[in-house]
Amino acid sequence: MQKTIVVTTLVENSVHARGLRAEHGLSFHLQVGSRSLLFDTGQSNLLLHNAPKLRISLADTDAIILSHGHNDHTGGLQAAHEAAPQARLFLHRAALSQKFVQNPDGTTRSIGMDEATAETIRRAAKAVVWTRQPTEVLDGIFVTGEIPRQHTFEDTGGPFFRDADSAQPDPLLDDQALYFDTQKGLVVLLGCGHAGVVNTLEYIRHITGGRPIHAILGGLHLLAAGPERMEKTIAVFRRLDIRRLAPAHCTGLPALAQLWAALPDRCSSCAVGVRMHFQH
Ligand SMILES: [Fe+2]
Ligand SMILES: [Fe+2]
Repeated sequence: MQKTIVVTTLVENSVHARGLRAEHGLSFHLQVGSRSLLFDTGQSNLLLHNAPKLRISLADTDAIILSHGHNDHTGGLQAAHEAAPQARLFLHRAALSQKFVQNPDGTTRSIGMDEATAETIRRAAKAVVWTRQPTEVLDGIFVTGEIPRQHTFEDTGGPFFRDADSAQPDPLLDDQALYFDTQKGLVVLLGCGHAGVVNTLEYIRHITGGRPIHAILGGLHLLAAGPERMEKTIAVFRRLDIRRLAPAHCTGLPALAQLWAALPDRCSSCAVGVRMHFQH
């Protein structure tokens, strides 16, 4: 039976509509028939402000998926879960570990989930699904679990550590993407894309038997990408013939500019309030 999946950007770094608000963070809302889910929850409780303005009822949420543990994706979890206590939670165990980022001056700051968020997850223990492997969230919508890093050109490192002394790099194994199939091919949603967008796409193609990829939405984390990585990433987008590209959040302005210049008729905004419809 044909079903429409409606993807709405609930929280993102930019906004172009009156009355909605933006912040450094990301949250998507997906409506699949009468069921709905959240992929990430933004940095603050902003989703509580934006959802009613977009005629989204958070109370009806069936599932909340965390793309990884960084607090710009997990900060609204407590509020989302209070609004929808029946929702099942999907996350990788490593999302709960301590996470730090190194500032340019060498100091570090914690960017892992705060205590209230971790407590929300602990209290919801029976409704938590740990996602190391590809897992169906609901009605044909899947989360990847851990994504193998296969393409060295993606340089998926970065100033991320598991300790405040920057001694142990954080491999961010918790980073995962959401995907579902449509008549035109797969739609992929990324949180921050720490595993690398090409690694993520190749892994999803591997586990879906090589289905074409129709659309990519979300954070591509190309902030530190040099010319070689950008060139190879764009070449992969062309080779896979990706029709819709809505780069968001942590993609980075120089990378956004290059993507738009290279694929002008395929790129579109992913700002707060943007709605996309896909036929399942
Ligand atoms: Fe992140
Ligand atoms: Fe992020």
